[in-house]
Amino acid sequence: MGSETPIHILLVSYPAQGHINPLLRLAKCLAAKGSSVIFITTEKAGKDMKAVNNITDKSATPIGEGSLTFEFFDDGLEDDDLIKIGFDGFSKQLELVGKQFLSQMIKNHVESNKPISCIINNPFFPWVCDVAYEHDIPSALLWIQSTAVFTAYYNYFHKLVRFPSDSEPYIDVQLINSSLVLKHNEIPDFLHPFSKYQFLGELILGQFKNLSKAFCVLVDSFEELEHDFIDYSSKNSILMRSIGPLFKNPIIESASNIRGDFVKSDDCNIIEWLNTKPKDSVVYISFGTLVYLPQEQVNEIAYGLLDSKVSFLWVIKPPPKEMGLKEHVLPNGFLEETNERGKVVKWSPQEEVLAHPSLACFITHCGWNSSMEALSLGVPMLTFPAWGDQVTNAKFLVDVFGVGIRLGYGLMENKLITRDEVKRCLLEATTGEKAEELKKNAGKWKKAAEDVVAVGGSSDRNLDEFIEDIKKCGIVNIHNI
Ligand code: UDX
Repeated sequence: MGSETPIHILLVSYPAQGHINPLLRLAKCLAAKGSSVIFITTEKAGKDMKAVNNITDKSATPIGEGSLTFEFFDDGLEDDDLIKIGFDGFSKQLELVGKQFLSQMIKNHVESNKPISCIINNPFFPWVCDVAYEHDIPSALLWIQSTAVFTAYYNYFHKLVRFPSDSEPYIDVQLINSSLVLKHNEIPDFLHPFSKYQFLGELILGQFKNLSKAFCVLVDSFEELEHDFIDYSSKNSILMRSIGPLFKNPIIESASNIRGDFVKSDDCNIIEWLNTKPKDSVVYISFGTLVYLPQEQVNEIAYGLLDSKVSFLWVIKPPPKEMGLKEHVLPNGFLEETNERGKVVKWSPQEEVLAHPSLACFITHCGWNSSMEALSLGVPMLTFPAWGDQVTNAKFLVDVFGVGIRLGYGLMENKLITRDEVKRCLLEATTGEKAEELKKNAGKWKKAAEDVVAVGGSSDRNLDEFIEDIKKCGIVNIHNI
């Protein structure tokens, strides 16, 4: 591969942490395998990424046999523009300016004799496929949630099974290829008539309208974990290649310093602190980058931690200014009382934390990135989803993958989880028979995840085959692949 002229691939990411992380991991994998990769997102996201990480834009960094370049486009808005709060208006603005930027980049590459061979986007940016199509460039989607969730959206979009509706809001859903029944509060809740976030469901469904314009969907999951859903999608909708867990692919280990974090940890001693704790003793708590729990719920978690006497590392991030939310406060005396056994931070190096031997379990909002990271590092979870795919991921972590205990039920349920429930679940997940069972199952997935990304493993092969597809696209009609 080294002596071949590299293929040029553009990756275009929606500017959210949960979108940038998996797409950047894919960018590094493709570069490591010999491609010249350009990673594109907005200037605002780029500014945050440059402030926190050691990255620059417009210059190629060598990775393995290829290279990675960052390019950022101006969203055309002032930082305090109110349109940024209204998701719909912001998305339309990004589409408007993003399309122009992307078209110009494609033209520049043709002029400098480095034509783009493939464009890859993640959900919320379905217009990227339109631009690729207009320029006759093959495109692919990196689906950043689970394949089960992809199947749910696909089934909903094509009306293949009944979903909750205004007239029947509490019906169960049985996805077309699965014997598993999802209760009304276990489907991706953007599809539920009671969800406050149905507009996000619409945006994701926009990707399904455009699906025929892509030649392949890549998914940050693996065959051993979601074989039936991957197989169903490939046979019924579009070629699907599972290539995860991307963060664990050994070919990008040497590029671990190239990261897309928006936030710098306020505490440099997290890993040193974990080093002082016994094996399997620390509970890690984080709700991702977008979820903000009600203050009363934070109080109950705090008292649950106090009462259960476990050691813990808790990420409590301040809300972005534009959300107009108050910062969480911890109960009086909480920090003093837990000083010896607890640490509260604003951001953590999560992959390193989850890989640490002192970790016992993870209270998580079940974002797909966090779920994949924990599952493939062998960490049992207490599931505390808020919305969207998180409620479905929680169901799978607990009832299908056998690595979780259900703690929360999603914000739509509007149920306060009491300190007693927090304490009971914490003790169940850290001591005794159930804790052993979770640990054993998590260990099994950890081993499976290591195998799929190793040379010749299913995800590694799928990545190679995807690159071969792109090369073939140059000589055959992409829609015949
Ligand atoms: C969003 C949606 O909420 C989620 O449902 C969807 O599956 C993906 O997009 P987010 O809420 O940010 O994601 O959560 P998650 O998917 O878990 O991604 C968060 C990322 O930030 C993870 O890669 C995690 O490792 C990283 N992170 C988070 C840190 O590195 N440090 C932290 O302190 C917190």
